[in-house]
Amino acid sequence: MSGRRFIVQTMGCQMNVHDSRRLEEVLGGEGWERTDDAALADVVVVNTCSIREKSEHKLMSLLGTLRPWKTQHRDARIVVAGCVAQQEGEALLRRSDLVDVVIGPDNIPELPALLREVAGGAPPLARTVFDMDDPRFLVARPRTAERETSAFVTVMKGCDERCTYCIVPTTRGAERYRPEDEIVAEVAGLAAGGVREVTLLGQTVNSWYDPARQAEVKLRSKVAPSRSEFPGLLRRIAREVPELARLRYTSPHPRHLTPDLIDAHAELGLLPAHLHLPVQSGSDVVLKRMSRRYTAADYLVRVRALQARRPGLTLSTDIIVGFPGETDADFEATLELVRAAGFVQAFCFKYSPRPHTAALRLGDDVDETTKDARLQRLFAVVEAQGRAHLEGLVGDEVEVLVESFDAKTGRYSGRSERNEIVHVEVPVGEDPRGRLVRAEVLEAYKHSLRGRMEGAAPPRPMRRGLPVVAGGAA
Ligand code: SAH
Ligand code: SF4
Ligand code: F3S
Repeated sequence: MSGRRFIVQTMGCQMNVHDSRRLEEVLGGEGWERTDDAALADVVVVNTCSIREKSEHKLMSLLGTLRPWKTQHRDARIVVAGCVAQQEGEALLRRSDLVDVVIGPDNIPELPALLREVAGGAPPLARTVFDMDDPRFLVARPRTAERETSAFVTVMKGCDERCTYCIVPTTRGAERYRPEDEIVAEVAGLAAGGVREVTLLGQTVNSWYDPARQAEVKLRSKVAPSRSEFPGLLRRIAREVPELARLRYTSPHPRHLTPDLIDAHAELGLLPAHLHLPVQSGSDVVLKRMSRRYTAADYLVRVRALQARRPGLTLSTDIIVGFPGETDADFEATLELVRAAGFVQAFCFKYSPRPHTAALRLGDDVDETTKDARLQRLFAVVEAQGRAHLEGLVGDEVEVLVESFDAKTGRYSGRSERNEIVHVEVPVGEDPRGRLVRAEVLEAYKHSLRGRMEGAAPPRPMRRGLPVVAGGAA
């Protein structure tokens, strides 16, 4: 094979961002060199998303833009990875003459071998097999040279929830859980390599339990109440990885926000004062049709209990508008819930019918104009809440985990304990990257804050190995 440079282009969620890193590591491990310029690459890997029809269209238009490069460069190869790859498999090779390799999320380690086969003259290849019997969780390697502050660690993959609108159970397969010792070891390895913040990843991350106890746990409860052992995992990481500054997780499912998990948020100063908790709708009729297995009242009761134990905790969410049969009254119920929960941020989507999903048989009866109008109203309410929240922080002190430096503005940036983006002015000669610092908020922008560094944040009680009651209101 003559070409040795590659680029990975990522679409979709954090799991895909995480998988893209594994794709880079697998190719890098075989002597391939990463480039940031697609024109210089010999192999372009497109790590795709198929959550909405629009995401899938993005792949097709990206492939179109790659045609001239592929035509000019004899050894150029295009790899399609991720959720569209898994969903379409070999069919993708028929749909596009530009694609050389189709590879599913569970087949990442096989990519170099497939590229070798194609370079050796094999016809285009597809490999999309789930690792159901012997699940593999690729270990994240910190990029020490790049001083990375933050990293992801997978705790489970796949999804058994089968929300009626969602393609993920098809593209990521059934749930597989990762052993506790393996997770803790990976977190510890990252922390030892300089990472200060770890985000635990899974489609319903807080449903996690140790696979060694699978038979027992499944017997205890098939559906509800939650069988989760996730809070124990958080406590163990807090205990055993004292160098860590923050421990986040995404995406939790509301039905696994158990009293024990709420207790963990009260106990562990390591958990930030923010939770992204997708609600999808505020109408019980719609939630039922979506098969979300909670009501709007259940959701509110749980988040209020959480906020009572962790004062100041902010919430963000995901919402779908225009789900089949959603009436004006259903949508008003969503707005009501958005106000009641006080979300400071929401990712709002128009319903998009997906193949292999149960909601297909419900049709797609909310017209595009109504979907657009609902989306706009929702945006306006969430934006106003987000702004009011940021403006309310001016004059306060926040704790920032500093991640990056922008040479143009001379400012460092990071995230507060609640996940707000904070641009910090720091004293001359200081480089606080990778550190937790205190900053006074001077100004609120539309989606971020500007602050001035005051000093190092006080050491966390975690570092002494003691769990702490954060905020103190129990
Ligand atoms: N596992 C996560 C979400 C994964 S998908 C969870 O359950 O929270 C991310 C978001 O995409 C979902 O929360 C939902 O709001 C949105 N989404 C999923 N399928 C969709 C569809 N068919 N149409 C529109 N939005 C969708
Ligand atoms: Fe999709 Fe529901 Fe699973 Fe999330 S919990 S990935 S929305 S099926
Ligand atoms: Fe998209 Fe697959 Fe993630 S469909 S949202 S990339 S799990």
